[in-house]
Amino acid sequence: MGRYRVRMKIVENPSLLTYNTFGIDVKARRLVEVEDAAELCRIEEWEHPLLLGRGSDMVFTADYEGTVVRLAEECEGKVKECDGGLSVWGGMVLDELVEHNIAEGYYGLENLSGVPGTVGAGVVQNVGAYGVEIGDVVQRVEVYDRQQCDFHWLNREECRFGYRNSVFKQQGGRYVVVRVELRLGRKFEPCLRYRAVEALPRGTAAEWREALLALRWSKLPKPEEYGSAGSFFKNPVVGAAKYEELRSRFEAMPEGHRVDGIEVAYKISAAWLIDQAGWKGRKMGRVGVWPQQALVLYNAGHCVGSEVVALAAMIRHDVREKFGVELEPEAIII
Ligand code: EPU
Repeated sequence: MGRYRVRMKIVENPSLLTYNTFGIDVKARRLVEVEDAAELCRIEEWEHPLLLGRGSDMVFTADYEGTVVRLAEECEGKVKECDGGLSVWGGMVLDELVEHNIAEGYYGLENLSGVPGTVGAGVVQNVGAYGVEIGDVVQRVEVYDRQQCDFHWLNREECRFGYRNSVFKQQGGRYVVVRVELRLGRKFEPCLRYRAVEALPRGTAAEWREALLALRWSKLPKPEEYGSAGSFFKNPVVGAAKYEELRSRFEAMPEGHRVDGIEVAYKISAAWLIDQAGWKGRKMGRVGVWPQQALVLYNAGHCVGSEVVALAAMIRHDVREKFGVELEPEAIII
């Protein structure tokens, strides 16, 4: 008798509580978890498929009347060596990969220590922390293309990585990120591109990771204590004239980062704007603005998505009134 392997798990009416880091208690009609990418060929048979990793950038405002599709976090050949680096399954937990790489001597992602979510979702969102974005080390990405109903690879230019942006996000829902090939170094060199990490003790890669985790969790809510979506808003990019106006009106405003483009623009700190608008540490019922980092909205106890959306709207309003700057959410509202 031939061996039969279950490569797909289906759950009817699952709770999504553990599939969104905000900890919002909603349900989906169905959850399909695939362990073998070949199963994705059936995706169009599933009702309103929604791709989800660990839901670290998602805020659900209602039950999801459709099918939540996930790549299983565990599968055979999760991480494989490939030419010049590693080939990684999209469902793998990103922080587990960071830890694995340090143990095996593959370097480049250390500064993403502690970033929640999966590798695939990280690529969609081009997650970043402390001067490193995952897109920096991506060589190519294997996708299931729902438009063409086939699997193919996109090289790094085709991924069009930008600040918390990529072709996978721009063409939302078209691609499922299946595997990612990463170009990684074999010699540890701490990445010091971000001011706050310059003073950290350098030592080994494992010590560097510990220092980054300590820094991260001194600013952000620990996921096991309070739900959140990490930074709720993106840092806004403003034109040079607007930037100069803000700098002259608000001398204490942190310096912006110049971004290359057709015209000169500056990425400025949303945390500072929200903080100055008086929102840091404030609570509105069951949601609040994190006392150590104004960019983070958190679940202060069994909140619902509409409360998060309402708080975000008030913050956007006040920042617009005070500074004339529009904040865009980094989190995705469903
Ligand atoms: N600041 C305030 N008030 C606050 C917090 C910060 O005035 O409450 C000021 C700080 O003094 C600093 C500036 O704002 O001058 C920037 O703050 P910080 O260095 O903490 O970084 P951030 O811009 O708030 C970004 C990412 C984070 C990432 C950190 C570290 C975005 C939207 N956020 O935050 O990413 O971890 O840098 O690299 O780009 C995420 O995307 O979910 C995320 C956590």
